[in-house]
Amino acid sequence: MKTLQNISLKNYNTFGIDVLAKRFISVDGVYQLQQLLKIEKNIFLISGGSNMLLTKDIEKLVVHIDIKGISIDKEDDTAAYITVNAGENWHDLVLWCVIQNYGGIENLSLIPGNVGTCPIQNIGAYGVEVKDTITKVEALEIETGKLISFSNAACKFGYRNSIFKNDVKGKYIITSVGFKLTKNKHHLNTSYGAIETELLLKQIKKPTLQDISDAVIAIRKSKLPDPKKIGNCGSFFKNPVISKSQFLELQKEYPKIPSYPISDDEIKIPAGWLIEQAGFKGKRFGDFGVHEKQALVLVNYGNASGKEIYQLAQKIQETILNTFGVCLEIEVNVI
Ligand code: EPU
Repeated sequence: MKTLQNISLKNYNTFGIDVLAKRFISVDGVYQLQQLLKIEKNIFLISGGSNMLLTKDIEKLVVHIDIKGISIDKEDDTAAYITVNAGENWHDLVLWCVIQNYGGIENLSLIPGNVGTCPIQNIGAYGVEVKDTITKVEALEIETGKLISFSNAACKFGYRNSIFKNDVKGKYIITSVGFKLTKNKHHLNTSYGAIETELLLKQIKKPTLQDISDAVIAIRKSKLPDPKKIGNCGSFFKNPVISKSQFLELQKEYPKIPSYPISDDEIKIPAGWLIEQAGFKGKRFGDFGVHEKQALVLVNYGNASGKEIYQLAQKIQETILNTFGVCLEIEVNVI
């Protein structure tokens, strides 16, 4: 373990924001991390950097979690139990599972980021959330250096939410995640419109895990910018949930407003639709803007600063509140 000085974090966050880490250390094992915690607790964690907007240089010691490895703990006729270390790339894990014929996360193909951060925001796409496959999350308590195992229930998962964003925020470092995946009788989730269309186009009637993964990759590539080419963090805002009465009022004025019922009196509406209606879709301001194909995604075309992108986000929030009376909650961590 070697501490480096004044390291640019541009290649460590998918937004591609160029801020400095005054001190930077990369850690590739749990034991090393425990040793480090004995001497330094005031740390800033970075892993895949796919859910953060950096608006300033980082004064704390930046700890890059680079712990690799996948182990198959148990297999029977129907299921495989695996433990994956936090520094593994998420999409590589999905592809590996598809090749092994382990089902459950194929709809989550091509989501940027690393395995250690997937439980924090309970990543989800195309009808699937990662919480449905997670058996445990192992994490080091920063204060004591103790390794704690959180059961699925203890993680208190919700839509883009978990205990790691709330009760225990900033108190733990996730070191590995356990998954239970199907080996046969896969519960394929093809109900999302775009997946159905993609399978129909390819005339696939009995899709395999590979077919679904390929379909999701094709859909994402057609709508979402590749962070390697255009800096972004996926959805910048959460889809807001509003009351049914507020929805009915909005519907009177905007009859085409899309909606997904959540409960008898709660409706989720796509933030992307609101942002598009407000005229922001595809708008470019200098080196940053709103993606042309998905209004929920803010982008850095090269050398934008985190502050500029944050100001745009605030302008969008203000406009949506004034136009529709709806509060947009930022999904990424603004630092
Ligand atoms: N829409 C628009 N204009 C846009 C974008 C969306 O009108 O520019 C409307 C359309 O009506 C469309 C609907 O919103 O039918 C839904 O759009 P989409 O299928 O692209 O999904 P989303 O609700 O915008 C969510 C997730 C994505 C995930 C997709 C697919 C959140 C915050 N985002 O987006 O997750 O890939 O569903 O399941 O829930 C991410 O979190 O980074 C992410 C990309």
